[in-house]
Amino acid sequence: MISFQNVTKVYNKKSVALEEINLSIKPNEFVSIVGKNGAGKSTLIKLLIGEEKPSKGRIYFDSYEVNKLKLGELPVFRRKIGIVFQDFRLLPTKTAYENIAFALEVDGKSQSEIEEFVPQILDMVGLSDRAFNFPHELSGGEKQRVAIARALIHQPALLIADEPTGNLDPINSAEIIRLLLKINELGTTVMLVTHNKDIVNSLHKRVVSMDNGRIIRDEENGKYVLA
Ligand SMILES: Nc1ncnc2c1ncn2[C@@H]1O[C@H](COP(=O)(O)OP(=O)(O)O)[C@@H](O)[C@H]1O
Ligand SMILES: [Mg+2]
Repeated sequence: MISFQNVTKVYNKKSVALEEINLSIKPNEFVSIVGKNGAGKSTLIKLLIGEEKPSKGRIYFDSYEVNKLKLGELPVFRRKIGIVFQDFRLLPTKTAYENIAFALEVDGKSQSEIEEFVPQILDMVGLSDRAFNFPHELSGGEKQRVAIARALIHQPALLIADEPTGNLDPINSAEIIRLLLKINELGTTVMLVTHNKDIVNSLHKRVVSMDNGRIIRDEENGKYVLA
């Protein structure tokens, strides 16, 4: 489903962000990406979603050769990928329901489709009772669940979570990870970028460890080990 082939990324001559990355991810895998700050994790994600171009190498996602996509082709391609971040990125003046509905409106969905779909997805992430609360009225874990719901509106083949629990306490973190596992079980590939050792070690899933732009370990049922 995803394949990085000899991918190198140099932002400027002094720093090589990624060096000769070879990585394959199969449909429906749950993969954690770990590594120190500056290891190249976010660059890997940016190349995968076409936000940056590799200096060398090829990146495939399903039938797409991502490094060859033109600017105009990116929006359709990106629908295959949902992404959430540490800082949630919700619209502060819209309720949980409206944050999701707005993304569907932008997408050109009809009101009746929106009215049918938003309650379903709120239920899936366990937020039906918080639908009409604004972000400032929600806990961090609830905000992240709204962000995840919004990321799922195109029924993406891949969900990328870049430090999704970075702002959350252990209980909320565990709930978000349980939700990511449920989404994975329902058939979505998940890439989890995280610094959280306890989470990674409790998952018993594949772990790709990065250091200094390289993949230094790649193990099924991996542990959180930094260089
Ligand atoms: N836009 C950029 N311009 C120049 N250097 C960058 C840029 N983005 C990242 N880097 C550098 O690339 C390396 C990898 O960064 P990054 O992918 O953000 O790592 P991580 O997400 O693992 O912390 C670092 O040395 C970082 O300073
Ligand atoms: Mg990063």
